[in-house]
Amino acid sequence: MTDRYAVFGNPVEHSKSPQIHRAFAVQTGEAIAYDKQPVALDGFYRAADTFFAEGGKGLNITVPFKQEAYGYAARLTVRARHAGAVNTLAMQNDGTVLGDNTDGIGMVRDILENLNWQIKGRKVLVLGAGGAVRGILEPLLEQLPQHVVIANRTLAKALQLAKGFAEMGYLLGCDYEMLEGQQFDLIINGTSASLSAQLPPLPDGLLAGQACCYDMMYAAQPTVFMIWAKQQGATSITDGLGMLVEQAAESFRLWRGISPNTAPVIAEIRQSL
Ligand code: ATR
Repeated sequence: MTDRYAVFGNPVEHSKSPQIHRAFAVQTGEAIAYDKQPVALDGFYRAADTFFAEGGKGLNITVPFKQEAYGYAARLTVRARHAGAVNTLAMQNDGTVLGDNTDGIGMVRDILENLNWQIKGRKVLVLGAGGAVRGILEPLLEQLPQHVVIANRTLAKALQLAKGFAEMGYLLGCDYEMLEGQQFDLIINGTSASLSAQLPPLPDGLLAGQACCYDMMYAAQPTVFMIWAKQQGATSITDGLGMLVEQAAESFRLWRGISPNTAPVIAEIRQSL
């Protein structure tokens, strides 16, 4: 029988996950079905229960259910616990549901393996202090950057996040004004500002020589953050499409025990934007 998977979200129509996982399935010869399922805002638990009761093997979870999925999972991976959010649920042989978070490892793989950028020893700036940023901090700090500065419009949230991850590396929280005079080798935009074509108020001169800029959002056109990065003289600039495909690949590996080749799938999704 074909194993069933799906992505739950609201909205979910625009999700690329079915296209990505179907491409992985064709490439690896795994017999899976993967659909997208809109879920009522108050209906996550019920929908997940029904999906697994009917034999579903695994789910990807997108906005706004990642925190609820964290609560739903009977067991959590360490990185999901630290992220405080779950983007992957997997039915286990013992009938329990495991929750994982593959967003951070997806971004780190994209940076290191696809883009060949460096993190180790680099001065890293992360913009934003919401759920998306919380999800990437542990995998990022595992790569031993020199330090990570978290800058956020609401200072208290940046400070809280920096304190929460302080045992994992050298982390500082600040607001955008406090960035004045500092320089970074890698800047990661994890704010949701790109969604509304807005940019945090960043001072000029933030980029060290050979700096790289990474937007966790992706779009057919360069995002406002990518345009800013170009104006500021960044050497390398990308959006988060590679992260999207890499996080999916890590979910696929968790479910099927096989690591798909991501490069052709990134190219395919890029073409379809
Ligand atoms: P997500 O799950 O996408 O991270 P979130 O938890 O609501 O969503 O966090 C959104 C992040 O984007 C926050 O860091 C938010 O800053 P505040 O904490 O100050 O609200 C940031 N953000 C959203 N719109 C922004 C804007 N126009 N300028 C700067 N930061 C913005």
